[in-house]
Amino acid sequence: MLNLLAFRKTNIHINMYRTQYRTKTCGELRLSDSGQTVTLAGWVQKIRKLGGMTFIDLRDRYGITQLVVDANAGQSLIDTANSLGREFVIQAIGEVSERQSKNPKMGTGDIEIRLDSINILNKSVTPPFTIEDETDGGDDIRAKFRYLDLRRNPLKNALMLRHKIAIEVRNYLDAQGFMEIETPYLIKSTPEGARDFVVPSRMNPGEFYALPQSPQQYKQILMVAGYDRYFQIVRCFRDEDLRADRQPEFTQIDCEMSFVEQEDVLVTFEGMMRSLFKNVLGVTIPDPLPRMTWFDAMDNYGSDKPDVRFDMKIHDISDSVKGHGFSLFDNSAYIGGICVPGISSYSRKQIDGLTEWVKRPQVGAKGLIYIKAEEDGSFKSSVDKFFSAGDLEKIAGRFGARKGDMILVLCGSDKRKVQVQLGTLRIEMGNRLGLRDPKVFAPLWIVDFPLFEWNEEENRWNAMHHPFTAPKPEQLDLYFSDKNEDIAKVCANAYDFVLNGTELGGGSIRIHDSKIQERMFSILGFTKEEAMYKFGFLINAFQYGAPPHGGLAFGFDRVCALFGGSDSIRDYIAFPKNNQGKDVMADAPSVIDDSQLDELHLVISKKQ
Ligand code: AMO
Repeated sequence: MLNLLAFRKTNIHINMYRTQYRTKTCGELRLSDSGQTVTLAGWVQKIRKLGGMTFIDLRDRYGITQLVVDANAGQSLIDTANSLGREFVIQAIGEVSERQSKNPKMGTGDIEIRLDSINILNKSVTPPFTIEDETDGGDDIRAKFRYLDLRRNPLKNALMLRHKIAIEVRNYLDAQGFMEIETPYLIKSTPEGARDFVVPSRMNPGEFYALPQSPQQYKQILMVAGYDRYFQIVRCFRDEDLRADRQPEFTQIDCEMSFVEQEDVLVTFEGMMRSLFKNVLGVTIPDPLPRMTWFDAMDNYGSDKPDVRFDMKIHDISDSVKGHGFSLFDNSAYIGGICVPGISSYSRKQIDGLTEWVKRPQVGAKGLIYIKAEEDGSFKSSVDKFFSAGDLEKIAGRFGARKGDMILVLCGSDKRKVQVQLGTLRIEMGNRLGLRDPKVFAPLWIVDFPLFEWNEEENRWNAMHHPFTAPKPEQLDLYFSDKNEDIAKVCANAYDFVLNGTELGGGSIRIHDSKIQERMFSILGFTKEEAMYKFGFLINAFQYGAPPHGGLAFGFDRVCALFGGSDSIRDYIAFPKNNQGKDVMADAPSVIDDSQLDELHLVISKKQ
C-alpha cells in the first residue's frame, strides 16, 4: 500500500497538470522542450499581428506562453486566430520552437508555440480593464469584477503566498502535536470587544445566533474536554469600523494549549513564526525574540504595537520644561517629544502643515512645538521667547539631537493620550522619511499588559483583553483589593505578537479557578445572573476539571499581507469586503423579500 502511494505521488509529480484538455501549462516550457508537440489551454491575454503572422499571449495560473500562427498556415487556422478576443478561453496545439526575439523577463521567453490548431473553448466579452500587472482599472471596477482582477499576477501571487503560509502553519502545528478541530459558526452572542453579526433563527422565533468574533469560548471548552493542543485556521466575524488591516470577516490562526504557562506559549508560537519566516521568506528572525512590556511600549513608542524598525523614541521632558513661563507647558501634566533626524530644513509652511496634521481629529493634539538643531550649531524654536539658547540645547541633549534634527513636542493633561498622539506622529514621520521598509522585519512580543482599562464614559472597568484572561499570580492581593488604584495596577498574563507596527496576534493565560473568575466578573460589573446568561456554558464546563491553559490567535490575513510587504489585507483575501463592508461583486448585503422576513419573524422598522 505504501509503495503504491509513493508510486502515485511520483506519477502525479511527473505530469501533474496533464488533463484531457492540456499536456503542459503556460508557465513551464523551455528551450530544452523544442521540437515537442504540446497542447496548452488558457486565456488570451494579448493578440498582435505582424507581417502576416499572428502572435497570441496565452495565460494560465502558471504563466504566459507566446503562440504563433504563421502567415502560410491554413486559412481556417488564420481565420480562427483572427476571431479571437481578449480573455477568450482556448486550447492550442503546436510545436515548441526557439523564438527569434527572446524575452528574458519571462520564464517561457525563449520559446514560442508554432500552432497547428486552435480550439475556442469559450468566448469572452471585452473585459472592463486590462489584465496586466499594472492595470488601468480603478479600485471600484476591479472589486466589481473580482474574478478578472484575480487573474492578475499581483493577486495571484498574494493568494499563492496565503496558501503557502497556511500549509506551513499546519505542518508546524501538526509536528508540535496540535489537532485542528472545527468549532461552530452559529453560536451564542457573547461580547468580545466588537459588535456581533447576528443570524435570526427561523425555528426559534425571536431568537438569534451570533457569528463568532473568535472561537474563544469553544477552544477553552476543548481544553476542558482534554484536547490539550488545539488549532484552527478559522473565519471570525466582527461588526466594526473597517481599515486597511481590518475586515468584517477575517481569518485567525487560533490556538490553545493546556498545562502551560506564558513562557510555554511564547516559545511555541515564536517557533511557529520563526519557521514561517524561514520557510516562506528565507528570513531568520532573532532567537529568542525581543520582549517589551506594555508600559515601555507606551512610554517609548506611544503604541502597544510599536514599529521598532526605526528609533525616534518618545522622551518625557515634563520635568525640564515647566516653570519657564510658557503656560501651555506649565498647565500640562505631560510634555513629550520625538527627535526627527535631518528635517531641521523644514520650512515654515511644512511645519504649519505638520501642525495641522497633528490637530486632525484622528490625531487629536492641540498644537505642535518644535525645536530645530540647526546645521550651524544654533537652536531655533517656536517657544524661543520662553527658553534661552542654553535651555534649548539642554532639551535637545535629552533627545541626543544632532545638527540638522528637529524635535517635535506635544503636551496635554493625559499622559497616555499625548503618548499615543506622539506615537501616531512618529509613525507618520517614519513614513515620510522612508524608514518603514516592508522588506525589513522587526517582530517582538509585548507582555505585561494591564488587566483592566478604565472606561471613562461608562465609569467602570473593562477587560483589556477579555474576561477570561488571568491576572499575574503574584498580584492576586491587588486583584482582590477593593481599591480602584490597586485594581489599576494588576497586570495580565497576556501577550501580543507585534510586527512592524501591526498587532499580528494576541492571547493570554486563562483563568481556570472559579474564585478568580467570579472576582473578574464582579470587577467588570456583571451580576452572577448576567455572567451565567452570557458565559454560563463555559462557567458550567469549568466545574468539571478545567486544566491550566492558555493560547493565542494570529490574524492570518495580516500575517499574509505583511509577509507580502503590504499594509492592506484586502489583496490577500480572495473575496474581500470594501470599506462600507460590502461585497460589490455579489452585491451583499442586500434586502430580502417579505416572505423571507416573515419566515424569520422579522419586521423592518419604518425608520429605516
Ligand atoms: P484578538 O481580538 O486580539 O484576540 O484577535 C487576534 C488577532 O486577529 C486579528 N484581527 C483581525 N484581522 C483582520 N480584521 C479584523 N477585523 C481583525 N480583528 C482582529 C489581529 C489580532 O491580533 N480570542 C482572542 C485570542 C486569544 O486570546 O487566544 C482574540 O480573538 O491580528
